[in-house]
Amino acid sequence: MGDMLACLRGWHPGLALAELAALLPDAALHEETSERWIRVTGGEEKRQHEALTVASGLQCFLVDGYVASTKENTTEGWLTEMQAYLHDHPVSGSVAVRAWKQGSKLPGWSLSSLSGRLGGLLHDMGCAIDLESPDHVLALISDGPTKSLACGWMVGDGQAAFSNGERRAGERPFFKPVSLDPMLARLAVNLAAGPLDRGPVVDPMTGTGGFLIEASLSGRNSVGIDIHSEMVQGAQANLAWAHDGEAPTHARVGRGDATRLADSLPGNWHGAVAGFVLDPPYGRNSHGSMAADHLLESCLQSARGIAHPDGGFVLILPIHPLKEHTTSSLPLDHSFALLNGEWSAVCSMIERCGWTPQSAHVERVHRSLSRLILHARCAPQD
Ligand SMILES: C[S@@+](CC[C@H](N)C(=O)[O-])C[C@H]1O[C@@H](n2cnc3c(N)ncnc32)[C@H](O)[C@@H]1O
Repeated sequence: MGDMLACLRGWHPGLALAELAALLPDAALHEETSERWIRVTGGEEKRQHEALTVASGLQCFLVDGYVASTKENTTEGWLTEMQAYLHDHPVSGSVAVRAWKQGSKLPGWSLSSLSGRLGGLLHDMGCAIDLESPDHVLALISDGPTKSLACGWMVGDGQAAFSNGERRAGERPFFKPVSLDPMLARLAVNLAAGPLDRGPVVDPMTGTGGFLIEASLSGRNSVGIDIHSEMVQGAQANLAWAHDGEAPTHARVGRGDATRLADSLPGNWHGAVAGFVLDPPYGRNSHGSMAADHLLESCLQSARGIAHPDGGFVLILPIHPLKEHTTSSLPLDHSFALLNGEWSAVCSMIERCGWTPQSAHVERVHRSLSRLILHARCAPQD
């Protein structure tokens, strides 16, 4: 595919970028003008296609997408640049232009009139226009915050929503208030495990099975473990439901202990698990058999023992909201106010267990609760 401009969803651009970097470990990624536009250089084409299929934060790629500031350009100047782009990137088959905006409108620039002018250019170049089912879509996106435009031949679904209503946690046969939203669950799986061919995914405290559903729908081999039989049965029902009523062969849920993971997994998974997704119980003794901090430490030690050398985990912890909310990555030495325990103690514990924290992001849940989403990778062993 060559150079691409990745277009990210607006839900959480910082997390979406971290997810993309995990799915495309061999590519160089650079933000271009908007936090939602990422120039992707190099890397395997196969992985770019996979990212389009499995990522939660990626909308589409624009082939060699052209980004321009509307502050420094006139409409005519921009159209001349687009003419050169279309000349350099010819397509065969029918075409259509699709335009959408991110944030507010661009003052003095009308997307519908620009789309019409682009359609005119394509028509003049001899392209057949087919608005219903074109072979190629020329995407035109405006970004209100940076007053800029991105345009290019689109690969992927563009504006399509990540998951339809049927996958909402509340629609599943077994629902608990702890159930994670599919979009966050999918992102956590991808961030933890990286490309699909790295290895399987383990959810040591699976609850209602939100991570497992997303891992299995992405085609990843996956196992969910929970200490409570009620959760195991519920997660099994949810997993089968997500796969049209039939339990998938590449994912399973079983009763087990997150602090003794090797006992619950096939021998050939030892040293091969690419990603662990961790949404532990909160507070003292909640749901579990031991204090939350002790449970997490024992689980991380157990996970490190069976992780792939390039393996990682994503840990979700409840925190008090930040003073100023941001969707950018936050420094690891930021003083996050965990609902339970001290952030510095959690970081030391993670390192003690043989992991290196990589990035921290915060997602707002409601006015008085946020979530910290921490990504860590295996620290090299001596
Ligand atoms: C916050 S919930 C997980 C919610 C889950 N992410 C979801 O989407 O439903 C934590 C789960 O950890 C389980 N758990 C607690 N201690 C455990 C242990 N030692 N081993 C395995 N599971 C444990 C609890 O039974 C509970 O289902």
